[in-house]
Amino acid sequence: MKEKRDEYSDAVKNLPNPGLGLGLRSKHFSYILERNPAVDWFEVISENFMDSAGRPRHVLRQLAERYPVVMHGVSLSIGSTDPLNRQYLTKLKSLAEEVKPLWISDHLCWTGVNSLNTHDLLPVVLNEESLKHICSRINQIQDFLERPVVFENPSTYLTFKQSTIAEWDFLRYMTEETGCGLLLDVNNVYVSGFNNDFDPVHYIDQLPHDKIVQMHIAGHQHCGTHIIDTHDRNVVQDVWKLFAQAWQLTGGVATLLEWDSNIPDFEAYQAELLKAKQYMSSLPLVADEPEKPDQNIEAVSNPVDFLVSDFKW
Ligand SMILES: [Fe+2]
Repeated sequence: MKEKRDEYSDAVKNLPNPGLGLGLRSKHFSYILERNPAVDWFEVISENFMDSAGRPRHVLRQLAERYPVVMHGVSLSIGSTDPLNRQYLTKLKSLAEEVKPLWISDHLCWTGVNSLNTHDLLPVVLNEESLKHICSRINQIQDFLERPVVFENPSTYLTFKQSTIAEWDFLRYMTEETGCGLLLDVNNVYVSGFNNDFDPVHYIDQLPHDKIVQMHIAGHQHCGTHIIDTHDRNVVQDVWKLFAQAWQLTGGVATLLEWDSNIPDFEAYQAELLKAKQYMSSLPLVADEPEKPDQNIEAVSNPVDFLVSDFKW
């Protein structure tokens, strides 16, 4: 077990930094295939391709020939008490063998029980029992996939009374027990910090920075009393500042801008991503613009369902 953990941990340390990436969205597919835009890499939602054959897989193969690709999943359900879904894992492994992603990622969450998928990234209780349960499942999954898996911190809206371990420590223990990597979603830290009253700067400070393989940045909706992780607008200044902090602490890792609703045209999406460059140096940051609450009650958080259904062919 220790040998395997060390093997995965070493593999995580040797993962490359491909640069600044974008999520692959069907709206942009013709543009990408026709113009080959200068994007460092693409992140694809694994579930959009696992059950598809023919044209979707053919198009993904074309993309993978031109760009580095990372597979990002939303249904591993690492925190569930359901048995591991071997059928899902078999499809995931098969897709990875075909696409050859730089790495495979998913979330520290659960998405359902009794074989039902809620299509939402639900928070887990963070205590010793759940840590043991989740690490055991990560070990089994990594052995099945024969590679380390990278786990993302979720955006959350509540804290369980039963939780006894801070999320940043929980993530650290996960890496120590399994050799897995981490995907730091800076916007999720900001959203969860506001909703659960913790300091996002302290959160990022406490993470094991050498285990962070990738970062996510995204827009959110500030509702005054709470923040919803909507992925439907530009990144706010406070999240960019957290990104700058994380960039310094990690020494710079692959970074991706998530945008899953109200998706702009490709040029605008890419322009928002490229703002990251001004936060990747130690130069002074641009002037602060305080965030104004937005009272639109139509917001949807953790948009997994339409993420998966984004691919209409
Ligand atoms: Fe994310």
